[in-house]
Amino acid sequence: MSSPTEPANHYFSVDPHAPSEERTVEVLLADLAFTIRTDSGVFSHGKVDAGTHLLLAQEADLPESGDLLDLGCGAGVIAVTLAQRSPGARVWAVDVNRRARDLCAKNAAALGLNNVVVTAPEDVPADLRFAGIWSNPPIRIGKDAVHDLLDRWLWRIQPDGHIWLVVSKHLGADSLQRWMNERGARTERMTSKASYRIIRAQIDSDAWRVNGDPQSAR
Ligand SMILES: C[S@@+](CC[C@H](N)C(=O)[O-])C[C@H]1O[C@@H](n2cnc3c(N)ncnc32)[C@H](O)[C@@H]1O
Repeated sequence: MSSPTEPANHYFSVDPHAPSEERTVEVLLADLAFTIRTDSGVFSHGKVDAGTHLLLAQEADLPESGDLLDLGCGAGVIAVTLAQRSPGARVWAVDVNRRARDLCAKNAAALGLNNVVVTAPEDVPADLRFAGIWSNPPIRIGKDAVHDLLDRWLWRIQPDGHIWLVVSKHLGADSLQRWMNERGARTERMTSKASYRIIRAQIDSDAWRVNGDPQSAR
């Protein structure tokens, strides 16, 4: 974390200090090809992260409608991919980083997508439940902070919906999966490739336990 004397320039800073330096990146998937803009101070400047690419290359049943979540959207590559693949769904792209949100909104607009809602996490309606959740979670914020983040969001999946996460093996993918199971999720490792794990999870209604209590009772 930045101290008051240090410039805030993590990809998860609320307002990164690094001067903006936009770069365009080509995104090539089996079914889609498009470009997005990336920027300094936003995760994966000048490229598509290899883990994110693996997640997007994964064959997944995508809900055709309902609300989908890209948790920690960065420049929005996951959000705009979901929005193109599932034009009848509404995709919520949330991030704490203001520059990331602005970039994600610009990327969605440039692709003519009107089914992406880019917003700060606290502005997502509290009663919304998601038909699907996708994330390359911000592991660098620290284990406890990641657990808090997932505690806040994952139980909001609808009972029949899937959660898709990509996590590096070296950054604790296996322990994160075990922790999710302890919380009450049913997880599967779908892919293990090039040092990344793709984890798919489902949570039965009210089964996400925080300190032994069902999340819904908190
Ligand atoms: C590993 S990056 C993934 C970015 C993008 N989805 C991608 O795959 O390129 C994780 C993102 O989570 C965001 N983030 C960090 N803490 C967050 C929080 N508490 N709520 C929402 N997003 C957060 C970071 O700012 C960062 O953009």
